[in-house]
Amino acid sequence: MSFLNEIEPLKQSALAELLAAPDVQTLEQAKGAWIGPHGKFTALMKQLGTLPKEEKPAAGKLINAAKTELETALAARRSELELKATLPKEPTDWTLPGRRRAVGKLHPLTQVTDDIVRAFRKLGFVVADGPEIEDEYHCFDALNTPADHPARDSQDTFYVAADPRPLLRTHTSSVQIRVMQSQPPPIRIIVPGRVYRRDNADATHNPTFHQIEGLYVDKGVTVGDLKGTVEAVFKDVLGSDVKLRFRPHYFSYTEPSLEIDFTNALVKKLGKDWLEIAGCGMVHPQVFENVGYDPEVWTGWAFGFGIERIAMLRYGITDIRLFYENDTRFLKQF
Ligand code: DAH
Repeated sequence: MSFLNEIEPLKQSALAELLAAPDVQTLEQAKGAWIGPHGKFTALMKQLGTLPKEEKPAAGKLINAAKTELETALAARRSELELKATLPKEPTDWTLPGRRRAVGKLHPLTQVTDDIVRAFRKLGFVVADGPEIEDEYHCFDALNTPADHPARDSQDTFYVAADPRPLLRTHTSSVQIRVMQSQPPPIRIIVPGRVYRRDNADATHNPTFHQIEGLYVDKGVTVGDLKGTVEAVFKDVLGSDVKLRFRPHYFSYTEPSLEIDFTNALVKKLGKDWLEIAGCGMVHPQVFENVGYDPEVWTGWAFGFGIERIAMLRYGITDIRLFYENDTRFLKQF
C-alpha cells in the first residue's frame, strides 16, 4: 500500500478507539498508542522523510490534517468524559421528598430572659447594659462594698490585671452605678446579663451565670412599689399561683435589705416550701451620694435575681450545667 493510502485507514482506527474510550484513563492510553512519541500515527509521520521529494508536500498536508482531526476529537472526548465523571452514578429520583433545613431555636435561658424583660417593659422599664469586664469601683466600691468588706468574700472573681484591677463582674448591680452616673433621675431600668464568680460547678452552681438587675429611682418610692412590681412580674412569667415572701437580709447597697422567697406548685413538687429567688432593698443613701444624687430628694429600690434558677423552675431542670453544654438533645426540648 502506498504511503498516502495508509493515512486514512489509520486515522479511522485511531478515531474509533478514541471515541470508544469509556473513561479519561483509557483515553490517555489510546492517545499514547496513536499520537504519543511511540504511537502508530507518529510512526507514520516519521516515514514522511523517506518519501521522494515530489510526494512530500501532498503527503505532509494530508498527514497534518489527519493529526489535527485526531487532536480535536481527543479534546472533545476528554471533556465529555470529564463531565460524565462528575455526574451522579445513580439516576436522580426527582420524586423524593426535599431535605428540610433544621431551624434553630432560642436557648431556654434566652427565652426566659425575653419573657422577664417583656413583663417589665409592660410596667415601663427599659433595658440597660454594661460591660462584663468591669472595674472594682463600679462592681464594689460605689456599691458601698470597700475592699475590706466581708461581702467581697462571697463574690470572689477573676481579676484581669493589676491596678486599676479590671475584673469579671460578679453581679449586674455594677450597671446601676453606670446608669445613675450617666443620667439624672427618674430611672426605671432592668439589666439582663452574664456574671462571673469563683465557684465550682455542681448541679446548682456555675462560675458563669445570668442575672437580671432592676433599679427604680424617683421621688417617694416605697417598699410597697417594690413588692407590687416584683409580684406582678413573677405572676406574669411563672403563673398566677405564685406566692412571694420577703425576709430581712443584708446587702451593702440597700437599706433596708430583703431577700425574696418564692413558691408555687412547681416548688411544692420539688418537695420544698419556699425557694430563695432574689435580693432587693431600698437604695442605700451612700450609693446615691456616690453617683451624685441627693438622698434627701430621691428614693429608690433595686433587686437582682438569677435567671437560671427561674428557668430551672419553669422547665423542671435539675442540673444547671445542662444550660451550658450545648447538647442539642437537651436544647431541642424548649
Ligand atoms: N447583687 C446581688 C447578688 O448578686 C443581688 C442584689 C441584691 C441586687 C440586692 C440588688 C439588690 O440590686 O438591691 O447576689
